[in-house]
Amino acid sequence: MSKAEIGVFGLAVMGSNLALNIADHGYKVALSNRTSSKIDQMMESAGELAGRFIPNTGLGAFVRSIKKPRAIIIMVKAGKPVDLTIQALLEHMEEGDAIIEAGNANYRDSMRRFEELRARGIGFLGVGVSGGEEGARFGPSIMAGGSKDQWHNAEEILTAISAKFNGEPCAAYLGTSGAGHFVKTIHNGIEYADMQMIAEVFGVMRDGLGMTPAECAQVFKKWNEGPLNSYLIEITGLVLEAVDEKTGKPLVELILDKAGQKGTGRWSAIAAQELGVAATTIEGAVAARAISALKEERIAAQSVYGAPGAGEAKMSLGQLEQALLAGKIAAYAQGFAIMKKASEENGWELPLGTIARIWRAGCIIRSGFLDQMAKSYEKDHAVNLLVAPDFVEIMQASSDALRNVVAAGALGAFPLPCLSAALAYFDGYRRAEGTANLIQGQRDFFGAHGFVLTDREGEQHGDWPSTL
Ligand code: 6PG
Repeated sequence: MSKAEIGVFGLAVMGSNLALNIADHGYKVALSNRTSSKIDQMMESAGELAGRFIPNTGLGAFVRSIKKPRAIIIMVKAGKPVDLTIQALLEHMEEGDAIIEAGNANYRDSMRRFEELRARGIGFLGVGVSGGEEGARFGPSIMAGGSKDQWHNAEEILTAISAKFNGEPCAAYLGTSGAGHFVKTIHNGIEYADMQMIAEVFGVMRDGLGMTPAECAQVFKKWNEGPLNSYLIEITGLVLEAVDEKTGKPLVELILDKAGQKGTGRWSAIAAQELGVAATTIEGAVAARAISALKEERIAAQSVYGAPGAGEAKMSLGQLEQALLAGKIAAYAQGFAIMKKASEENGWELPLGTIARIWRAGCIIRSGFLDQMAKSYEKDHAVNLLVAPDFVEIMQASSDALRNVVAAGALGAFPLPCLSAALAYFDGYRRAEGTANLIQGQRDFFGAHGFVLTDREGEQHGDWPSTL
């Protein structure tokens, strides 16, 4: 029997869909999983593609069934399960083989794994895969980091299975170890901010404008045909119009308002903090999920303060649309700023234009304006999106609406942590004369930390009075 071109270990939804996607493109795929029942299930449901799979429960047989130099995609739960899987596979792999880790790994783990495997002569690619279940099956966005040689070995298959935007593959090598998973982490940070801002707007429509989910759905559908066109706006319309079969009620009204999180949004905010980059929209989104989880406490707090008023929001749907647009630009600006700084710190040389290009299709944050964003970053790699000419125009046209929405939200007690963070970021970034002069004075007062005077050279100190 001829050998497989690639192996896939880990056949939960994402792994099995990736394997089916690879087989669909004509490649022979070796399959394995910790429990054999998943392999059986996969073979039973593979239909015509079953002939392209070589299933094996035993790891030795699985590895041997792959052509050398072997490439094995592992798609298991992030963290310890990845290390245990690598350890087990290593017993059977040989120098020159490679592991492609395609889960939502912490980028620092990918850096460590890259070094550990390199010491044993095994290649490692840490690959961010976005697009959820459907993406994995029919074309995800693929963000690779690791050794360039390993990328070249796997490039043909990863490019073939990726999403295509106007025929261009949404898969790319982004830099050395850790780069791929870092970019995926920031993708998810932007995803969190984008989702949260949409949810904030939904909250205003529901509680401030008294709209039903079905009415909101119609608005999101309309917005999806304009500048907000994106996958997340599209699925928002679909989620809002879904009806629970049992009760006939809008499904969204029955879904408990506690958001889960697997960690990538938080990692994104932590990375930004570590790098000293403002990521307030992402932080706002992570914090909003944390508050959402406190359902019982929120119920108790509402009984203390009383229910906020409803039906009072002084804002129009047009303003909400524009506010969302401005907020999204701020969130992307922050996400790209984090990547720019991380790239400098880690020597990754992250190609920001390419990243925007491979996010144009396949991934969860795909949206109409990523093409424009790609062009902006290709023209000027270092630019903050807020001052990229194409986006300046959009911000000029939409920031007043964002300001109105945030102001009306504050007056109506609608929590808008992400939209208000976006506005504060915009206002802080565009203001030449800030207030950090006072911070510097305070720091020098209590800690002699020093400051720079605008009319003198060198570090200075104030002659502060004693407070004793
Ligand atoms: C993607 C998604 C995917 C997954 C998130 C969900 O790009 O395909 O981001 O990776 O849906 O991990 O993350 P939370 O559970 O943290 O919302």
